Amino acid sequence: MSIRTLDDLLAEGVSGRRVLVRADLNVPLDKQSGAITDDGRIRAVLPTLGALVEAGAKVVVCSHLGRPKGTPDPQFSLSPVAGRLGELLGAPVHFATDTVGDSARSTVAGLADGQVALLENLRFNAGETSKDEAERAAFADQLAAFGDAYVDDAFGAVHRKHASVYDVPARLPHVAGRLVLREVEVLSKLTSEPERPYVVVLGGSKVSDKLAVIEALLPTVDRLLIGGGMCFTFLKAQGLEVGTSLLEKDMVETCRNLLERSGGKIMLPVDVVVADAFAPDAAHDTVRVDGIPSHRLGLDIGPETVAGFAAALSQAKTIFWNGPMGVFEMAAFAAGTRGIAEAITKADAFSVVGGGDSAAAVRALGLDESSFGHISTGGGASLEYLEGKTLPGIAALEN
Ligand code: 3PG
Ligand code: MG
Repeated sequence: MSIRTLDDLLAEGVSGRRVLVRADLNVPLDKQSGAITDDGRIRAVLPTLGALVEAGAKVVVCSHLGRPKGTPDPQFSLSPVAGRLGELLGAPVHFATDTVGDSARSTVAGLADGQVALLENLRFNAGETSKDEAERAAFADQLAAFGDAYVDDAFGAVHRKHASVYDVPARLPHVAGRLVLREVEVLSKLTSEPERPYVVVLGGSKVSDKLAVIEALLPTVDRLLIGGGMCFTFLKAQGLEVGTSLLEKDMVETCRNLLERSGGKIMLPVDVVVADAFAPDAAHDTVRVDGIPSHRLGLDIGPETVAGFAAALSQAKTIFWNGPMGVFEMAAFAAGTRGIAEAITKADAFSVVGGGDSAAAVRALGLDESSFGHISTGGGASLEYLEGKTLPGIAALEN
């Protein structure tokens, strides 16, 4: 990989220099209290920030949070993240209340060597995500003015052609941070000669989100286990009735076609937990997949499925898992996700958990993070990497 790294930058010396770090601090917040419910992404960027602080850089961190529409929106402020980041770094983080305005300018200008600033949400500015090259460029110019060098450590956002990810590195000396490097190293192991058997577990709600990765993985994997909301479209494609379960009708034909071409690699649930309603206290039962009542909806995979999937996983030498097996946020429908996660930790395999919800599930279920080979911070980004797509953020570092 022809990418310069943080170590190259550190070797040049960064003391007294302003280093602009793009991080992915897009953490989940509690809807009521606004508190951070999972700080995994903040912790993941500490090695890079710590090294820069230690080397005496003036560290300017920027990130998006949520999907505000190009204008300030207080519910998506990074202010709580600045607080948590300061706790984890053990030093205050100077928070700018805008991204490229007066507050940002004075905050950056006031940094002493070894201090850290966090700019307000990048997506409070329309230029960050704009499809218009000139609008993105104008915003990138403003951001780039805050750094003498640029570090990309926002693995979760490398699949976005956004100003801070794609256009800023064209304006500054640029390197990959420790997190981005580690993520790419791990994922490249999965795409180039994974040790076999290579078993992939996919869940989550929509087939349409996973279609490209299923297509890309089918020739490569030995087994593809499918659970989560998306399994019902596959079950329908097998001619089964799925009651009021999540169903993407326009994907049924595609799923039928995938099943026909899969050479028996795709494993689907044999039993599911069905409920009267999408609610934590809904009445529920386990049924065989050919016995889903017409008025009930499936919210988890059943125990026999867990056992079958676990048996396949126990043989694996390489495992990739993306997407929960059920509605794990509700205790009644968490057993499938927990069972699969535990089976992955027990397997004598190199295991990678792909981002977003599955990483959050690992932590929410209280599982030991260290018993997985790698927990990616990128959901969409890790899937697009496995699809073999060019990731704009990585391509920008290569130039
Ligand atoms: C994510 O959570 O998937 C990343 O932070 C990217 O966010 P986005 O999907 O809103 O671009
Ligand atoms: Mg996303």
